[in-house]
Amino acid sequence: MIVATSPEEWNAWLERGACVLVPTMGALHAGHAALVRLGAQLARERGLAAGCVATVFVNPTQFNEKSDFERYPRTLDADAALCAEAGASMVVAPAPGHVYPPGRVVPTPALPRVATAPGLEDAHRPGHFAGVCQVVSRLFEMFPCAAAVFGEKDWQQLQVVRAMTHDLKAEIEIVPGATIREADGLAMSSRNRFLSDAERAAGRAIRAALDAARAERDPHAAEARMAGVLRDAGLEIDYAVVRDAETLERLDPGSGRSGRALITARAGSVRLLDNDAWPA
Ligand code: PAF
Repeated sequence: MIVATSPEEWNAWLERGACVLVPTMGALHAGHAALVRLGAQLARERGLAAGCVATVFVNPTQFNEKSDFERYPRTLDADAALCAEAGASMVVAPAPGHVYPPGRVVPTPALPRVATAPGLEDAHRPGHFAGVCQVVSRLFEMFPCAAAVFGEKDWQQLQVVRAMTHDLKAEIEIVPGATIREADGLAMSSRNRFLSDAERAAGRAIRAALDAARAERDPHAAEARMAGVLRDAGLEIDYAVVRDAETLERLDPGSGRSGRALITARAGSVRLLDNDAWPA
């Protein structure tokens, strides 16, 4: 596996042909390893000569707080080792000036109508999805790919990226990667490293709340169950809702459409996100 930090290096590799892209911001954990493994498997199955390419780029335009951007862990050596182990053919770590060249305005695609304004992450992190769409469309331009893998853990992001790719008429398949969990059910996240022992223990309530929701047949009852479980554990709820899995608008139970239970809750200063299919 090669680690490329300059356009000359990554373009030379990409001359081999199409790839599967796994965009990340680094600080990689077992959840990302599963996304890279999935990307490598797809590239093998489809005979894509450039294999699975993982990008590591901490994108400044999707952070609401400059301090969050600054404290985001930068661990390229460990990230590259994890990607090699998971079967990536290349890790690219572009500098900010490669992604946002000085003097060139990198366009932010028109935000898709689907999934960008249901009052979830969009409401809690204004401007976040504009930054995600900007960087993802730019990465698609820099690293032409046949498919790209995004984790289900960031469910709203997955739906936004899918809708954006469709709107851009980009011939890129967006492939979802399942959420990987710790043994006690907590979804893996780069933010888990900031949890104290007590916060870490409280965080388990998120999986328990999703399980409780899956046992309910009515969206309102499911939301009430989730809120109860989360509050009892001392978590501060940003939202705990049941929504249409694709549009993230309110779910009409008679519509026959798939539902998704989505939670964002704070343990101390750490925001934890999770979601699951609803109902069971
Ligand atoms: O999910 C992430 O890590 C980021 O939002 C992404 C998709 C790599 C864009 O910076």
